[in-house]
Amino acid sequence: MQTRDGFEMSRRDLLIIGAASGAVAAAASDSAAAPAKATPAPSAAVSVTKVEFEVNGQARFLELDTRTTLLDALREHLHLTGTKKGCDHGQCGACTVLVDGVRINACLTLAVMHPGAKVTTIEGLGTPQRLHPMQAAFVKHDGYQCGYCTPGQICSAVGVLDEIRRGVPSHVSADLTARPLLSADELRERMSGNLCRCGAYSNIIDAMTDVAGVRS
Ligand code: FES
Ligand code: FES
Repeated sequence: MQTRDGFEMSRRDLLIIGAASGAVAAAASDSAAAPAKATPAPSAAVSVTKVEFEVNGQARFLELDTRTTLLDALREHLHLTGTKKGCDHGQCGACTVLVDGVRINACLTLAVMHPGAKVTTIEGLGTPQRLHPMQAAFVKHDGYQCGYCTPGQICSAVGVLDEIRRGVPSHVSADLTARPLLSADELRERMSGNLCRCGAYSNIIDAMTDVAGVRS
């Protein structure tokens, strides 16, 4: 190839020049786009504390990162894996346990917030040989399919019947000062935080009404 200045340039020379100029351009644009090197931040110190509570009737002592949820303390530290992690965001109810008799989403609370508490998980409600009446009713009424939500459903159901017994009103209680009814509407409303992707809802209500001793 003849250039304007009269030099002969082969196709091979052209390819070499093109490749070299492309590499220079890429290096220039890389250095323009690259952010200034940041000084690495010092890693945050982990705060560990001792927690003592009772789980299923047994005293338990743990040394935990203060950010550990009650759910992770139960599952990861005490290996009580009956309590399930569904969403880890307080939306599904799979992690429901009883703390001092009150149902609670274990994923939404830190273990260190419960020193001295009495925690009951599905493992502490009954045993395969001696089922809790609510566990037996779930079996009798087919209140589950895959079973993933079931520990949370059962703990929640036990908590619900206790709330009604104690006269705690719900969103559908017509009279806030009267004793709540043991109606299917009340049970459905109170169990609305426990999701079941298998759709066992109607059988769960049947199990609860059976344990409560009323007709659904
Ligand atoms: S895992 Fe706690 S509410 Fe879903
Ligand atoms: S039984 Fe499968 S999610 Fe409820």
